[in-house]
Amino acid sequence: MQSPSSAEHRRHWYILGAGAIGSLFASFFLEAGRPITLIGRRGRQGRGKATLRLQRGDSVHRYPLNLQTPDSDGRIDYLLVCTKAGEVEAAVADLAPRLAKHATVVVLANGMGYQERLQRRWPAWRFTWGITTEGAWREAPLAVHHAGSGETLLGSPGQAMPGWFADWQSLGIRCRWETEILTALWRKLAINCAINPLTALHQCANGTLLQPPLSLEVATLCEEITAIASAEGQAAAVADLPARVDSVLQGTAANRSSMLQDVMAGRATEIDFLNGHLVEVALRHGVKAPRNREMLQAVRELAR
Ligand code: PAF
Repeated sequence: MQSPSSAEHRRHWYILGAGAIGSLFASFFLEAGRPITLIGRRGRQGRGKATLRLQRGDSVHRYPLNLQTPDSDGRIDYLLVCTKAGEVEAAVADLAPRLAKHATVVVLANGMGYQERLQRRWPAWRFTWGITTEGAWREAPLAVHHAGSGETLLGSPGQAMPGWFADWQSLGIRCRWETEILTALWRKLAINCAINPLTALHQCANGTLLQPPLSLEVATLCEEITAIASAEGQAAAVADLPARVDSVLQGTAANRSSMLQDVMAGRATEIDFLNGHLVEVALRHGVKAPRNREMLQAVRELAR
């Protein structure tokens, strides 16, 4: 871990979203000796001085942190958004009066569709998109388990690595600036779209999709997703999609997908930003998407 320079010390990051990933990234910053402010929802975790509990295997760490709600005070120059896809735009809008004119906003959320909308709505802000394979689950408010180390990619189309990325490089996690971030987002979207809705609909662990009859449904979905992504100019993101999906299924065979967990917990799913986004893209290009449409409708129905 590199020691941060004084310029880096002047940057204060706010993290919006106190769920598993928001709390985990808060702990990464705090572990690296970088104070942050965590912004939770109104009426949820409260405000003021608080302690974040991080568990990794059997070891437990406790970090003091500053907790806020969106209506607290303080101008925000650097913001990391870690909410569910369906909450990103409303959560950012809620915080908008506090953001500096040219704020840096990093969004680490699943799915696609909200990126264009955010950039259009707030053209002066510098948006960066991210994906992570860090594993985490929240035991209780401000208590998070780091379930597995992964890799985090950040990037903004056509933008070289900015100076603030040094903050992220000092976190002691695997993290890199990705110049082809749209391809990376599409790659993750394609994998999630082939796995998550089927596991939610059949209420099964990921590994069940490796066996017939569900493996045949995965194959059909992969074919359709490949056609849609290719029509959008994202053929590179879906090269070998069936093999990639297979390898994710093998590696996470015992896991419950995030969508299945959402359904089981009675939370809104991210289907509109996964297969829902594919259906919209397909429509734009005149590509047929019957299987994705079916997934979209069935999961919406299930969540209802
Ligand atoms: O969304 C998820 O749950 C995961 O990204 C994965 C690996 C596709 C399914 O468990």
